[in-house]
Amino acid sequence: MLATMGAMGLAPTAAQAAEREPVFRAPRTGDFTLKGRAAAKVVIVGGGIAGLASAYELGKAGYDCTVLEARDRTGGRNFTVRGADSTSDTCGNRQTARFSDGQYMNAGPARIPQWMITLDYCRELGVPIEVFTNSNASAYLYNEKSGMTAPVRYRTAKADMYGYVSELLAKATDKGALDGAITADDQEQLLEFLKSFGDIGDTLTYTGSEHRGFTVDPGAAGTPGVELGAVPTVSQVLSTGVGRYFSFEFGYDQAMLMFQPIGGMDRIPAALTKAIGSHRIRTGAVVSGITDTAHGVAVTYQQGGRTRAIEADYCIAALPPHILAKTPHNLGSAVQTALEAVTPVSSGKIGLEYRSRWWEEQQQIYGGITETDMDLSHIWYPSYGFHGQRGVIIGYYNTGTNADTYAALSPADREKRSVAQGVKIHGDVYRTELATSFSHHWRQTPHLLGAWHSLKGGPDAATYAPLNRAAGHVYFAGDYLSYADAWQHGAFSSARKVVTTLHERVLA
Ligand code: FAD
Ligand code: ALA
Repeated sequence: MLATMGAMGLAPTAAQAAEREPVFRAPRTGDFTLKGRAAAKVVIVGGGIAGLASAYELGKAGYDCTVLEARDRTGGRNFTVRGADSTSDTCGNRQTARFSDGQYMNAGPARIPQWMITLDYCRELGVPIEVFTNSNASAYLYNEKSGMTAPVRYRTAKADMYGYVSELLAKATDKGALDGAITADDQEQLLEFLKSFGDIGDTLTYTGSEHRGFTVDPGAAGTPGVELGAVPTVSQVLSTGVGRYFSFEFGYDQAMLMFQPIGGMDRIPAALTKAIGSHRIRTGAVVSGITDTAHGVAVTYQQGGRTRAIEADYCIAALPPHILAKTPHNLGSAVQTALEAVTPVSSGKIGLEYRSRWWEEQQQIYGGITETDMDLSHIWYPSYGFHGQRGVIIGYYNTGTNADTYAALSPADREKRSVAQGVKIHGDVYRTELATSFSHHWRQTPHLLGAWHSLKGGPDAATYAPLNRAAGHVYFAGDYLSYADAWQHGAFSSARKVVTTLHERVLA
């Protein structure tokens, strides 16, 4: 019946199912029946998404899991900042967020594509989700370094770029430049496409288009609207480099629709923590040694000023690789070489809370992202609380040297710098309506010391092979051991892989 429904488009077909990542079957207590085996004791180092997902999945089959987490909360890089939350960084900056009730910023993960298993976990754990607006025709582009003197709306920049590209390609086609490449019929079809895509009409010439937007919006009879004028030349469009942002929305991991948990991304680790049981999680537990022994593992950790020890049958090391590289262990030189080959990457964000939602009221921007070539890189408008009183804009989200530039400043100067840059796009309101700010940098965050990672050659390169299998009784998990580094999906997938291989070994 399912196959028939599939053929009718009423149920997923086998082909559609195969498009998803390898099917994961969670361990179950019933797996031990008739096997003469029993669930083992597992110590999990790191209470980020990978560590929590490992404990959650193994827990379904009755494994005796203990999670050791260095920080005072679970979630790792999944961190939502609300009013009264405090942080200290490795540069000595201490901040307390002053966001109003109901306002928050996701300092780490903030968006989830539809295909990632992160959404499957939201469904399974009962974490409600809402749409996250990742691209918005009303948001701006502003390339100051490329000579733009004013920001331009995404829709306008796209209309001009697509218009001129269509004109040029149509002219080339008309001049016979494609005669050797496609048939005359196909050229006709191509011209039809270009006429509508670039709005170039039968003249095959771009002279502006209603795609650019209006200075007076169309309204009642008598008000047809006034199209945005001052169409730039093709040279101006090309030289300002606005086109470099357009492929973003085609990316497999960035294409709309995107989602976010309602109320903050940390609803995911909160739900995992609840499902695992807080009695299985020790926070403020900084692991200081991992020893593989003849029959299991011995792990030492510092908690409350004391050195403690725990023994188990297996260990899942789900802490950042660059931190594990500095943690004493006896897992061998190949493991150490692999850990040292992973390079952490910088990234930071600032949350700017405003007294009013002027970007909605005055500038008609409801969520989405403004792109710039200034060192703030991206400005994000909130995808929650529409039409509310206040809102938190992400005033910068940057990586690499741009993030390092901001990280070197005090929190007050980060605010000053990002607001001065934002004023160039949004005007004085960007400064005058500001109520408070909070900034976060991941290279400077204790026990994380990085936003994500760079692995030369990817996770399957020979250097990293020792981390993709067990070192004695120790397994490795984390987003860095996946093809979705910098995505929770990577952490979940990696955890599923380790849970599957560990469970198979216990059953064998
Ligand atoms: P981590 O979260 O790093 O967990 C490691 C844990 O180990 C931490 O809790 C740490 O405190 C702990 N630890 C460290 N040392 C020790 C020790 N000695 N003893 C015990 N515990 C220790 N993902 C998305 O899905 N969508 C996004 O939009 C997105 N955007 C992002 C934006 C930013 C700025 C950042 C930083 C990340 C983003 N990500 C996003 C990626 C996502 O946050 C990660 O993929 C995921 O959270 C990684 O989980 P993890 O468990 O592998 O690692
Ligand atoms: N995956 C992260 C993001 O989308 C880096 O922002």
